[in-house]
Amino acid sequence: MYDFWENVIFYTGKYNGDPMNVHRHLNKMFPLKADHFKQWTTLFNATIDELFSGENAERAKQRALSIATVMQMKLAEH
Ligand code: HEM
Repeated sequence: MYDFWENVIFYTGKYNGDPMNVHRHLNKMFPLKADHFKQWTTLFNATIDELFSGENAERAKQRALSIATVMQMKLAEH
């Protein structure tokens, strides 16, 4: 997860996992709904704001929201 966020924010290229696969598996065991993603985003943003500020903090929140939106759409397709 560290590698994932480092790559998202600083483009390190270190992460080589497949988060979609992890969440697809999760979604099968327990369906992830819009409310879960809303709550995830709220907690993510609150944590970022608590610990960081500035350009990279803003970028992390923007990227998180766009990834969450795409992830939710992809999970809803199946
Ligand atoms: C309803 C929303 C979400 C739930 C309930 C959720 C839950 C989880 C859980 C249970 C894991 C496995 C943790 C472990 O292996 O111990 C995980 C992994 C992960 N999640 Fe999420 N997640 C959500 C949304 C997101 C979103 C929106 C992102 C990205 C913006 C994200 C990024 C990741 C990453 C990078 C991993 C690690 C994947 C890996 O092992 O390579 N998650 N998540």
